[in-house]
Order: sequence, then C-alpha cells, then structure tokens
Amino acid sequence: MRTQIGIVGAGPAGLVLAHLLHLRGIESIVLETRSRKYIEERVRAGLLEQGTVDLLIETGVGERLKRECLTHHGIELRFNRRGHRIDFDDLAGGKTVTIYAQQEVIKDLVAARLAANLPILFDVEDVTVHDFDGGASPSIRFRSAGKEEVIHCDYIAGCDGFHGICRPAIPASVLTTWGRDYPYAWLGILADVPPSTDELIYAHHGDGFALHSLRSPAVSRLYLQVDNGEQLAAWPDERIWAELSRRFELPGWTLEQGPVLDKSITPMRSFVCAPMRYGRLFLAGDAAHIVPPTGAKGLNLALADVAVLAPALDALLHGDDKLAASYSATCLERVWRSTHFSWWMTTMLHRAPTADPLATQLQLAQLRYVVASRAAATTLAENYTGFAMH
Ligand code: FAD
Ligand code: DHB
Repeated sequence: MRTQIGIVGAGPAGLVLAHLLHLRGIESIVLETRSRKYIEERVRAGLLEQGTVDLLIETGVGERLKRECLTHHGIELRFNRRGHRIDFDDLAGGKTVTIYAQQEVIKDLVAARLAANLPILFDVEDVTVHDFDGGASPSIRFRSAGKEEVIHCDYIAGCDGFHGICRPAIPASVLTTWGRDYPYAWLGILADVPPSTDELIYAHHGDGFALHSLRSPAVSRLYLQVDNGEQLAAWPDERIWAELSRRFELPGWTLEQGPVLDKSITPMRSFVCAPMRYGRLFLAGDAAHIVPPTGAKGLNLALADVAVLAPALDALLHGDDKLAASYSATCLERVWRSTHFSWWMTTMLHRAPTADPLATQLQLAQLRYVVASRAAATTLAENYTGFAMH
C-alpha cells in the first residue's frame, strides 16, 4: 500500500486530520486497532469549544451537530451549599460552549470518510512505525485480518492516544516530557434521566469533587471524584447516587436519579512531550499531551493540533518546511495554556487525600474570589470557552 500520510489512530485527532487532508486533496490511510463499533460507542468527552464546533461545521461534518447539540452560555460553581453562575455572555465576549458527545463526533467523521470511499482500517494489530527519522520514505507495518501489511508514505501522523506506539517510537533522548499523576480519579456515569440542571455544575465538597453534565434533555452525564485504585465493583449505582446527591447538596435542589447506562473510572494526569515532531513523524492530540478532564480541554486540544498539522503537511508535500518546523512550538503554546488551566481547575476543586484543613480553606478562598471578582471570573470564562484556533 502507498499513501501520502499514514495516520495511526481513529480518535478525534486522526479522523479530523484525515478529513482536513482530504479537503486539501491529500491522500491518507487511517489505521485503528479497535473496531468501528467500539470507537463509535466509547463514552468520553462531551464539551466542545466554539473553535472546535466552528471547525467541524465549516469543514462540512457539523450537520447533525448543528441539529442535536446543546449550546451553553455559562456554568455553575457550587461550594459551601451555594451556587454561583459564571456568565459567558457577559465575561467571554459572547463565546459559548457546546454539548455534543465525542462518540457522536466520531460517528459523523467515520460516516463522512466511508461515504467518500476513503480508506480506514479497523481491527488492525501490531502496528509499528519505521524509517521516519531521515530522508527515506517511512513505513507503517501492521496485521489486518491475519495478514502482514505495510504502508509506504511520505509522513506519519501519530494520533494514537496516550497509550499508543508512536510517541515511544521516538528516541527517548530527543524528547523532553513533563508529567504528574493526580492522587484521585473520576468515576463517570451516563444516566437515563433528564438532567437536574440546564447548565454544567462543578461542585467543590469536603468529600471530593462532583460534576453534573448532560448529553440531551433526557440523558445526564455525571462525574464523581474517587480515590486512585478504586474498582467499579465497589460502586453499585445506589452508592454513586448517594455520593453525588451529598456532594451537590443545595437547599431547594434535588438530584434526579435514573438507570445507569454506562460506568467507567478514569485516572487523572497532566503530561506534555516536546517536540511534537521527529523527522517525518508528527504527534497530535493525546499522543503528545494529556490534561486532567476538569477543564474539558483534551478533545479540543486534539482538534487544535490537527488544524495546525493539516496545512503544515500540505506545505511540506509542496517542499515548504516552514509550517512543519514551527508545528510543535505553535501547538505547545496552546497545550501549555490548557495544561495550566486544567491543573488550576483540578486542584481548586478536588480534595487531595493528603489535604490538610488549610488546603481546603485556600481552595474556598480561591473559589470565593473567582465568583466575586470580575477579573478572576473572566479568566475562568475566557479559558473555559477557549481561544481562537489557528
Ligand atoms: P484518542 O481519542 O485516545 O484516540 C486514539 C485512537 O488511537 C484510539 O481510537 C485508539 O484505539 C487508537 N490506537 C491506539 N493505539 C493504536 C495503535 N497502535 N494503532 C492504531 N490505533 C491505535 N476532552 C474535552 O475536550 N472535553 C471534555 O468534556 C472531555 N471530557 C473527558 C471525560 C473523560 C471521562 C475522558 C476519559 C476524557 C475526556 N476528554 C475531554 C478528553 C478526550 O476524550 C481526549 O482528549 C480525546 O479523546 C483525545 O483524542 P485523540 O484522538 O488524541 O486520542
Ligand atoms: C464533560 C466532561 C468534562 O471533563 C467537563 O469538564 C465537562 C463536561 C462531559 O463529558 O460532558
């Protein structure tokens, strides 16, 4: 097989990159280790920045999004049994955020790719990347339906997520990495019950953080801070609802409960690697960086990366290295801003197992400041709604 760009991974980064390249007349092949059904059903993110929504709509894969999405003009910060609204219309220059599930974005992108008869291979195994460090043509080896295959290409895009094979294929001596594992995790549920709120609620509580999000007028998405190493078996539905109700507690407000449709536990980490390019291999999305989910930035960062990468690869294929040479630095500027914002939201809202009473008071002082000071609330609103894409 031969193509211009070999794309490893059919997550948001890989699929949007393939789509943007196609619009520029550039060929690619997408390889994915999971099945189509698996990636279209994997429950993950749901909050899209304005720039992400605009990108999907402007490039023709936003029709269903436009019909089914929910637009939000603010969020609530809840602490000490009181709610405080952060108003994006007032504080973020009219920018909004959009609820549309990641797996719906994936479905739309896969459908567009298949409708255009473009190659995407699911269920591949043993993917390895080769000869990307010099002038030679790189290749990707893998097994598909039991057969050894090889793709020869001009460039490789490593869009294979945090646990992928592309980042580890770069010699460790050329990469600098920064990382931190947080001492807590998120237990996320999808529940067949109308949301108890119109806007997202980020709750600080002595027992730990909780987040009320939603997917539709009929389906709620909720997250609960749990200890690292917790097993789902220890969290029957009744225990989850009881804990959520306690953490969201507010006089006159009730958390509606319903059947749990999906349940998972996600570790929380910050991670950045630089540079995001090595020779003919480019990393994008979670393959290069991870943020804890509290700021809802991961998917948005993945799309921001490939919005820079597509024109850079286009120019490279025409012999111009300038955009590709600055790819890593351009992306990392946004990545570090989001890394800081996500760390800030996370540490302001979660209870660290080692937290002393002073730490809790400092968090509450910061939360009171954020909701009382226009400058501080603007900082949150501006970062949360996101910055313009390149
Ligand atoms: P991924 O989505 O991880 O895609 C990588 C793909 O590569 C996968 O399909 C994987 O199967 C495939 N793959 C792996 N290895 C190989 C291989 N060797 N060969 C071929 N394919 C391979 N972000 C937000 O912006 N907003 C939110 O509200 C938000 N909430 C979140 C809530 C939770 C609970 C979680 C877990 C994440 C959340 N995120 C959020 C983060 C977001 O889901 C990720 O940042 C996003 O999926 C990154 O996209 P990606 O394409 O870079 O990587
Ligand atoms: C969602 C996830 C997040 O991490 C977040 O900060 C907000 C919303 C969600 O899945 O809806």
